[in-house]
Amino acid sequence: MEKRSWAEPYKIKMVELLKMTTREQREAAIAAAGYNTFLLKSEDVYIDLLTDSGVGAMSDRQWAGMMMGDEAYAGSRNFYHLRDTVETYYGYKYTVPTHQGRGAENILSQILIKPGDYVPGNMYFTTTRLHQELAGGVFVDVIVDEAHDPASTHPFKGDVDFNKLNALLDEAGADKIPYVCIATCVNMAGGQPISLENLRELRTWCDQHDILLVHDMTRVAENAYFIQQRETGYQDRSVREIVHEICSLTDAATMSSKKDAMVNIGGFLAMNDEGLYEKACELVVVYEGLHTYGGMAGRDMEALAIGITESVQDDHIHARIGQVAYLGESLEAEGVSVVKPYGGHAIFLDARAIVPHLPQEQFPAQALAAALYVDAGIRAMERGAVSAGRNRQTGENHMPKLELVRLTIPRRVYTQAHMDVTAESVVEVMKNAASVKGLRFTYEPGVLRFFQGRFEEIE
Ligand code: F0G
Repeated sequence: MEKRSWAEPYKIKMVELLKMTTREQREAAIAAAGYNTFLLKSEDVYIDLLTDSGVGAMSDRQWAGMMMGDEAYAGSRNFYHLRDTVETYYGYKYTVPTHQGRGAENILSQILIKPGDYVPGNMYFTTTRLHQELAGGVFVDVIVDEAHDPASTHPFKGDVDFNKLNALLDEAGADKIPYVCIATCVNMAGGQPISLENLRELRTWCDQHDILLVHDMTRVAENAYFIQQRETGYQDRSVREIVHEICSLTDAATMSSKKDAMVNIGGFLAMNDEGLYEKACELVVVYEGLHTYGGMAGRDMEALAIGITESVQDDHIHARIGQVAYLGESLEAEGVSVVKPYGGHAIFLDARAIVPHLPQEQFPAQALAAALYVDAGIRAMERGAVSAGRNRQTGENHMPKLELVRLTIPRRVYTQAHMDVTAESVVEVMKNAASVKGLRFTYEPGVLRFFQGRFEEIE
């Protein structure tokens, strides 16, 4: 068979030069950072796979849009462009801009959650769960069991398990469940999609029990691509159409536009209900800014509006997820244990399999991420026990089944050769896995401890 390669639907117009470092420099840098990749200086990093958030490359059109910023305090032209774009592509009638995703989560949680409420969701996300808890709610994980198994090849690991949801309903009662929170392309599960079939069933369930359905749409376009590739009946539908259909099944959405929509900063809360919109407008002025900018500059709203249109193009998303899969295939070919199927935004290394000598109390994923940085200057992120934090009521450490290191691929930033270098470095670290030491906290922040926590090696 003749080989037919795919390539990116863009070419490079400007490059950012990187500093090269030695192993000794990196050993010193990671120790100074308390073995936390969040505390490294970016200039000491060669290939930065910490996150896909706010680090995408904007297009020439987005940069041109930046020059069209209308920096009026009230009623910026760019806000109306953004609002209309959200309605056209996502279908939500009302848009409230926020400085980023967690700003939207804060406002939504404060409006909808009362102390003692339960918020079911398809796996937790760090900031989302914290805002639910700060508003007095308790997050309840209702994702399918397969999502917690890195080896399961279930095509829709983001699906909701209705047995879990009904068990919560029986125990708590519908009036204690203000909404179900559904993420598309579930980050903590490894970038795994929810199916439209499952979402439709969830819509019916929510209608039956008069419970709202809220959508964390941070990576909705990537989820739509997986539906197009995997779900019967969607092969001939465009990503754009599928995105719209997903959104149409939900009542409101929080968005971190730093991912799918390829801007460096920004987010929004969107909804169809006018009453909810009015309440959000009241709170946005307290925490973010006036309801026509909500913490964003006019130019950033313009870049976001343009980024949304680019994010749902089939060619773009095919190349984007194709690059992630390329890294996954390169790693698997060398026998590295990664979460299957490959995620939309990242490849997740299974730290339990790669550094099996480290017990979870010694934070194997955190230790593996530090070792990766030392090997070749590649910065990854821990997504295991450190990220899971402690139970806010009992103070006990959460010990998640998934103990992962995330190699997150920024959109339109790195080349295939960067992916090769990354895969080779992971293989090298795996070969020398026995030398990776466990870690213990020397400083543990009270909330979201993965961001600023510091560690030392256990000798
Ligand atoms: N929801 C999901 C699914 C996310 O992945 C993030 C951020 C947020 C909400 C919060 O949005 O950062 O704009 O306030 N995820 C980043 C990451 C930080 O690296 O996964 P934010």
